[in-house]
Amino acid sequence: MKAIIPCAGLGTRFLPFTKAVPKELLPVVDTPVIHLIVEEALQAGIQSVVFITARGKSALEDYFDYAPELEFELGSKGKKDLLEQVQRIAGLVETIAVRQKKPLGLGHAVYCARHVVGEGPFAVILGDDLVDAKKSAIGQLIEVHNRTGKSVVALKEVPREDIHKFGIVSVGSHEGTTVEIEGVVEKPSAEKAPSNLAIVGRYVLNQSVMHALKDLEPHGSTGEIQLTDALEIEARTNGLVGCLIEGERFDAGNRLEFVKAVFAYAIKRPDVGEPLIEFLRERLKNL
Ligand code: UTP
Repeated sequence: MKAIIPCAGLGTRFLPFTKAVPKELLPVVDTPVIHLIVEEALQAGIQSVVFITARGKSALEDYFDYAPELEFELGSKGKKDLLEQVQRIAGLVETIAVRQKKPLGLGHAVYCARHVVGEGPFAVILGDDLVDAKKSAIGQLIEVHNRTGKSVVALKEVPREDIHKFGIVSVGSHEGTTVEIEGVVEKPSAEKAPSNLAIVGRYVLNQSVMHALKDLEPHGSTGEIQLTDALEIEARTNGLVGCLIEGERFDAGNRLEFVKAVFAYAIKRPDVGEPLIEFLRERLKNL
């Protein structure tokens, strides 16, 4: 199975940084967000990823490529560990880049990969969405897909005040962490929302979703083709399943959530974790 990783958004919430650098390269300590996402895909057995890119995003491809000049320098200076690290990243995964020439929405970004994902089911992982989990989040969805054969989306409970930011599902029957989805509403008000279960950036989709995307019209207000509309059709026609994923999710395209993600990952690292916790304890004492 291939994973589509949409990275073609404008990243306006992270300006001015995103004026020159893709937000997917924001460093979680020293590791770009996109690297953590690719590791998650690898853990789930996915070996080929399709980046949906745009102008100014070519550094994403460079990151996963060999860098002969750098490797030569590291080698000649005897920096063996660093050399191995950069070479390992280049050999991690097969990458395919597809350009989304206009930012016409997430649905359109996914549709841009139609010629490269093949005939079977495919995964989608948003390039700015981190899930810190014991078991790969996309792997959790693949298990549900293998069991049900249906398109699967990741779900998380969200607080009432955040409901208007997400696609929210109405649910039918449920079994453990797997729920049957009856419908999807994009960004409803808390009063009108059918639940507090939000679709978060992980999907395993059947080709029927690609077919639904083909016929979708852009939304009048935004001019975007929304993936949620295709998911709503999938729920009504072929069936759509939700998987309540285990793990802590961070929207790395949001400033505060990105900073929280950096702390969450950093405090677990053997090199910086303990001194960072010590520093935070001291700081908090003085607040
Ligand atoms: P976001 O809603 O986070 O939009 O997209 P954005 O443009 O990246 O960021 P802001 O809101 O301006 O700060 C969710 C995901 O869909 C991708 C983004 O790259 C991100 O991974 N996307 C969105 C595309 O690939 N193409 C699009 O046209 C829109």
